[in-house]
Amino acid sequence: MIEKNNKMEKIVSLCKRRGFVFQGSEIYGGLAGVFDFGPRGVELLNNLKKIWWESNVYQKENYYGLDAGMFKHPKTWDASGHTTGFSDPLAECKKCNTRIRVDKVLNSIDVDADEKLEEKELNEIFDKYRDKIRCEKCGAKDFSKVRKFNLLVKSNLGDFTSEGAEPVYLPGEACQGIYLDYKNIVDSMHPKIPFGVAQIGKAFRNEISPRNFLFRVREFEQADTQLFIKPKENKKAYENMKQDRWNWLLSLGINESNLKWHQHENLVFYAKDAWDIEYKFPWGFDEIEGIHDRTDYDLTQHMKFSGTDLNYVDQETGEKYIPWILETSMGLGRLFVAVLDNAYKEDELGGEKRVFLSLKPQLAPVKVAVFPLLKNKPQLVEKTREIYKNLKKEFKSVEFDDNGNIGKRYRRQDEIGTPFCVTIDFDTLEKKEGVTVRDRDTGKQERVSENDLISFLKEKLS
Ligand code: GAP
Repeated sequence: MIEKNNKMEKIVSLCKRRGFVFQGSEIYGGLAGVFDFGPRGVELLNNLKKIWWESNVYQKENYYGLDAGMFKHPKTWDASGHTTGFSDPLAECKKCNTRIRVDKVLNSIDVDADEKLEEKELNEIFDKYRDKIRCEKCGAKDFSKVRKFNLLVKSNLGDFTSEGAEPVYLPGEACQGIYLDYKNIVDSMHPKIPFGVAQIGKAFRNEISPRNFLFRVREFEQADTQLFIKPKENKKAYENMKQDRWNWLLSLGINESNLKWHQHENLVFYAKDAWDIEYKFPWGFDEIEGIHDRTDYDLTQHMKFSGTDLNYVDQETGEKYIPWILETSMGLGRLFVAVLDNAYKEDELGGEKRVFLSLKPQLAPVKVAVFPLLKNKPQLVEKTREIYKNLKKEFKSVEFDDNGNIGKRYRRQDEIGTPFCVTIDFDTLEKKEGVTVRDRDTGKQERVSENDLISFLKEKLS
């Protein structure tokens, strides 16, 4: 058993050491709430995106892909309700100015408080428990009143005069791009309702206290689908959508015991019903994906604010209505951490302790690693490079490694979840006895002829 908090530290350390995730702007001391995906991380992230796109666009009928621009007309965020209703409660330590997210701090001492409560109610609860709350930085118990802090991130795009200009915000949620393009999609693709739009897009939030690695950050990516349905035909479609998202997570190899449902009691301003899928992170169950019944809220608002008719007209019956929207919204950074946590294993192999990621081959950042048994034998190295090049053509993400002894190379590949390592030795060269293929999970090795190597790996990796 790996101790829980310790496990998170181990995952964060592995991510840095093995090139998965780096702190943003690290050489300048870092920028809170921003992370970069390194060479191995970007492969895992792209694999997740590819699988997501495959299941949410290609394998579905009547779903369309979209990649909307990030900047949007300022009125977008008034219409969506974000300029007024998208805020978190904060209080500031009067001694060292550290800001705390009041609802989260209250929850951590088992007090029921939700970010959606009004400022007045939050202040009443906070005042009751003030003497139990210390600043995590300086230890003082002297906090300001609770204020609601808007999470939208402002830009100065096009702001040449600055006076009176409305700010252009970075997206607080990626899905607004889909609502703004709904009419364009209807007019160009002529979809029949129900139809869906899928998009992977960035979102930015001025989180008061970013924490838990990629879990609560200020810049992140959301993989969203919006299903446009006939008004009031939400019940069955919503249940199907929930089941579909649950099954998708299982298809990634996530253990069902690491997942659970959470229904929102206090709904966000746009939702009629909202369920989260939570993952059992080392610090406890927490949200990875939200499934929301948004009714006609978004299109009605955009119709009102833009003055553009957003009614859908059924070409067969002539019916005219504002479609209702069912949404799935997954934070890819959170999914990334969940997938790593789910795959992280420690065991003993050949009398030695090791760490390995039991990632499904489709997710593994490196599919195959290729080693010459010895690095100082030119013939071996030459043959290894030839095999490496052929494998790279086929499997793309393939690594050549001649650093350290074979045992160390295996350990490094295990830690990044490479399903197979191929070693080229003197028997490959002299006796034409093929190569050794070693399996990550079992550590078992088998001899495979050079001619069969690609088809052997293809079958195992599929
Ligand atoms: N369009 C709906 C929407 O944005 P949300 O519940 O605010 O709903 C959806 O966000 C998902 O985005 C969450 O389930 C989570 O995975 C991810 N997410 C939200 N805030 C985040 C943050 N600060 N850092 C990382 N991921 C975040």
